[in-house]
Amino acid sequence: MSKVGLVVCGGIAAYKACEVLRGLQKAGHDVHVAMTADATKFVGTVTFEALSKHPVLTDLYNQPGDPIPHITLSEWADVVLVCPATANVMAKMAAGIGDDAATSFLLACDCPVLVAPAMNVRMWKNAATQANLATLRQRNVGIVMPEVGLLACGDIGEGKLASVDEIVSSVLETIYRQEHGLDLAGKTIVINAGPTHEAIDPVRFIANASTGKMGYAIAAEALRRGAQVRLVSGPVSIEAPRGADLRKVTSAAQMLDACLEAFEGADAAICTAAVADYTPKKVADHKLKKTVERVDVVELTETADILATLSAKKGDRVVIGFAAETNDVISYAKAKLARKGCDLVVANDVSRADSTFGSDTSRIAFVDANGVDEQETLPLSQVAELIIDRLSQLLGGKR
Ligand code: CTP
Repeated sequence: MSKVGLVVCGGIAAYKACEVLRGLQKAGHDVHVAMTADATKFVGTVTFEALSKHPVLTDLYNQPGDPIPHITLSEWADVVLVCPATANVMAKMAAGIGDDAATSFLLACDCPVLVAPAMNVRMWKNAATQANLATLRQRNVGIVMPEVGLLACGDIGEGKLASVDEIVSSVLETIYRQEHGLDLAGKTIVINAGPTHEAIDPVRFIANASTGKMGYAIAAEALRRGAQVRLVSGPVSIEAPRGADLRKVTSAAQMLDACLEAFEGADAAICTAAVADYTPKKVADHKLKKTVERVDVVELTETADILATLSAKKGDRVVIGFAAETNDVISYAKAKLARKGCDLVVANDVSRADSTFGSDTSRIAFVDANGVDEQETLPLSQVAELIIDRLSQLLGGKR
């Protein structure tokens, strides 16, 4: 959990800072708010107090028990976001002016600072604002650029606050970089994800309930940490993370070929896919007609085990597998670790509603030669973070 200082300035977009605050909390971070006097005209301090569950800093002088609240807050914060950032506060930041609680706090901060500007298009285009922006950028202040759109004043142009999602993601990326650095920079990771479809005829297939969410979350985390990601995906209905080298496949046989190709020159593989264990022996070349050719029995044959195949080829590379179980989770996971020859198995109990296919949370346990490390139920993004932490350690230990 990181500590985020949120400075709210006086602009109509101030109400969107409430949603930004919620987004940061949902990602597991603690937020303290500082507001300029003008900001409190748009949104009351009570709103931010109730949302953040902390007092809001608006005044340097009436803080019982803390004579230097701007310094206290600056020492507390790991990262600071100014949202919305007005032309006035950006000018003060550029000039080093601290004439109220919010700007004095900003002046005292030595942690990463991001600004999300929002203002009228002419104020944005003003040469003074652009010069201040350039100064801030030069000092490594992160800028979440405003969008072009219909502004509150009725003008159409640049100056609309970036979307809440984009602002939250920018802060999260800053936090990730702070916590992990780009620990996977220069590494290429193969991740397989989703189910496979095993055809019976051109319109029928055998599938399973995998959604690909876990594998895609791991791919997003690996990308955030600087890795090149080759994402070999079975049929899913979610979007691949930006920057992933997506290789779409349908069947287990295609997934094996794509994984073998992707593993060439890669540093690691994470096999999250729910690969079909069996595939029909014969695939009809036409839609089977029940009135003509009954299909009471579909003869199946076993598919190749992709995880075991990659593990056999890995050399000093790292291979991580999954074990989706409904019972005896740990003992089955241990058996898979031994049978498949990978470095680590991520076991999860898919009989639990909070850990099953399609869930946005998962309860995992790491099983490796050193033992078992059970985790609590966590959002998939945090599970992905833990898995990439493990991968990073394994890669560090081996190189
Ligand atoms: N796996 C694979 N190729 C297969 C089957 C499974 O690569 N043909 C991988 C999965 O991607 C996962 C691990 O093996 O990383 C374990 O998959 P799981 O379905 O839990 O186990 P199975 O090997 O299918 O064994 P069982 O059906 O006995 O649970």
